[in-house]
Amino acid sequence: MSANNLLEVHNLRVRFATQDGEVEAVNGVNFSLAPGETLGIVGESGSGKSQTVLAIMGLLAGNGQASGKVVFGGKDLLTLGSRELNAVRGANIGMIFQDPMTSLNPFLRISTQLTESLVAHRGMSKKEALARAVEVLDAVHIPDAKNRVHYYPHEFSGGMRQRVMIAMALLCKPQLIIADEPTTALDVTVQAQILALLDELKRDFGVAIILITHDLGVVAGLCEKVMVMYGGQVMECAPLDDIFAHPRHPYTRGLLRSVPRLDGAGETRLATIPGNPPDLLHLPVGCPFSPRCPDVRDLCRSDRPLLRYQDADSARACHVPVEELT
Ligand SMILES: Nc1ncnc2c1ncn2[C@@H]1O[C@H](COP(=O)(O)OP(=O)(O)OP(=O)(O)O)[C@@H](O)[C@H]1O
Ligand code: SF4
Ligand SMILES: [Mg+2]
Repeated sequence: MSANNLLEVHNLRVRFATQDGEVEAVNGVNFSLAPGETLGIVGESGSGKSQTVLAIMGLLAGNGQASGKVVFGGKDLLTLGSRELNAVRGANIGMIFQDPMTSLNPFLRISTQLTESLVAHRGMSKKEALARAVEVLDAVHIPDAKNRVHYYPHEFSGGMRQRVMIAMALLCKPQLIIADEPTTALDVTVQAQILALLDELKRDFGVAIILITHDLGVVAGLCEKVMVMYGGQVMECAPLDDIFAHPRHPYTRGLLRSVPRLDGAGETRLATIPGNPPDLLHLPVGCPFSPRCPDVRDLCRSDRPLLRYQDADSARACHVPVEELT
């Protein structure tokens, strides 16, 4: 890992205490992100994608505990008190969720929601803050931003509300935007527009992005590298082109087989990976994917494979050499 990285995550673990026992939601995740870089995190539901970024942001539920290291701007975020963490988050990291209404207050005009923190934390006058609010709405292509800044959230369509959310995340000129399934609730056309917008922000503002999705098709247009998670672990991490052209992990290969091919060259019926994701209360002793893996060996059932880096950008966690995979 290099000193020039914007974010470095070392051996991140998340445990939840529940009545039934300890849920091992994230199990030793490692990755780094350079300034301006875009990382896609993909995996089936329950694979630990959201808890990974919530732990990074210090936003786990009360019964959750994170361990490991999350180095951002030279500080380990996991060791910061809530005040210091709030300052880092507010000034440097913007977050976008699937449902904009989780972050927008339905009872307040957008203008109030966008200007409040600028006035409170940035010492801006109301007039300056309003000008900045209009500027960010313009940047996310809200038409007639000067007037619409005074709308209430319900006066926008779903896609426009997601743009407002992105504007909110941009307000403080963050170095990093974390987007958790930002387009899942939107129809396909609007989804494409939001992804195009994120791509534009990346180019225009040089902001780094972590994009979470269960859909490999979504990462294809935006991300430079992809991290594939399963059962709370990183199975494979590689540059985008390698993930699609030379997947080196059985789980990545299974996921790719379940992505519809646009060129019509693939199978017409979607293949799904047989079996179910693991129960995080009772993870297999060995590889979490072993009960579903077409390449499973005895060793896979007894020993958990470690994530090993082939070079700075590519890593996989699998006992079986790539040449021997089916
Ligand atoms: N507060 C909690 N208490 C117990 N378990 C939890 C809690 N929050 C999350 N989990 C569990 O952590 C696991 C990982 O969840 P996470 O939200 O990271 O999945 P995900 O990969 O984001 O899935 P999805 O695609 O469905 O959003 C899940 O099995 C979830 O049930
Ligand atoms: S370690 Fe074994 S079970 Fe796990 S993905 Fe590799 S081959 Fe499959
Ligand atoms: Mg999630």
